[in-house]
Amino acid sequence: MDLTLWQYQFRIIMLGDSTVGKSSLLRRYTEDSFLESINQTVGVDFYVHFLEVEPGVRVKLQFWDTAGQERFRSVTRSYYRNSVGGMLVFDMTNRASFDHIREWHAEVCEWLQPHKVLFILVGQKSDRDAHSERVVSREEAEKLAGQLGMAYVEASAKTGQNVREAFELLTRWVYQGLLTGEVALQEGWDGVRCALPQTLRLQRASIYQPCTAPQNSKKCCD
Ligand code: GTP
Ligand code: MG
Repeated sequence: MDLTLWQYQFRIIMLGDSTVGKSSLLRRYTEDSFLESINQTVGVDFYVHFLEVEPGVRVKLQFWDTAGQERFRSVTRSYYRNSVGGMLVFDMTNRASFDHIREWHAEVCEWLQPHKVLFILVGQKSDRDAHSERVVSREEAEKLAGQLGMAYVEASAKTGQNVREAFELLTRWVYQGLLTGEVALQEGWDGVRCALPQTLRLQRASIYQPCTAPQNSKKCCD
């Protein structure tokens, strides 16, 4: 089977302070590996993963892994616009990284207008909770997520706990947004893309369903 076949492509952006573990989350999700010593991201890195959101509906997830360091901000900002989903990440053992979440959120929303990104908040390094290193409680993180209108998940790239769950929750939320029309496909915007017509023809001949928009939403490939 050709693993490149997909019906939708979602662009997801990873955001949060340096060292919170954005790249580590992506490594865990896409390669199931973890490095104690990992290079800081320079500018933006790129990861790909495929997920079947329902039988026959395969999504290609394109991740933009941005550098948390301030000096790369002008580069990373240019990736906001073409994202449909965003993972806002803080380190639960680093108070400042939690305090900065509102700023990350506000900055992206400001740059994105009139587009909208669907976010999820992730409290990273939950493995360190066992060593009493947590400085941000689940309650206050859940409260912030509620105020910002997003779900909250605690995860550990080190142990793998909740990593797949966090990415899948976000992906399914974007997919639901397509179903309900909350995510609108627009000319010249690459946050969501559909398979090319030629690929579609191949898909129709395979087990995959054609790339029509899900029920109740606009047709995606018009
Ligand atoms: P920038 O690229 O600079 O924005 O940082 P980042 O957010 O991508 O962080 P990165 O993934 O590079 O991880 C920073 C450090 O945290 C590395 O030493 C990782 O090994 C460590 N780390 C990442 N995730 C976890 C985790 O879940 N638990 C623990 N204990 N350490 C982690
Ligand atoms: Mg990184």
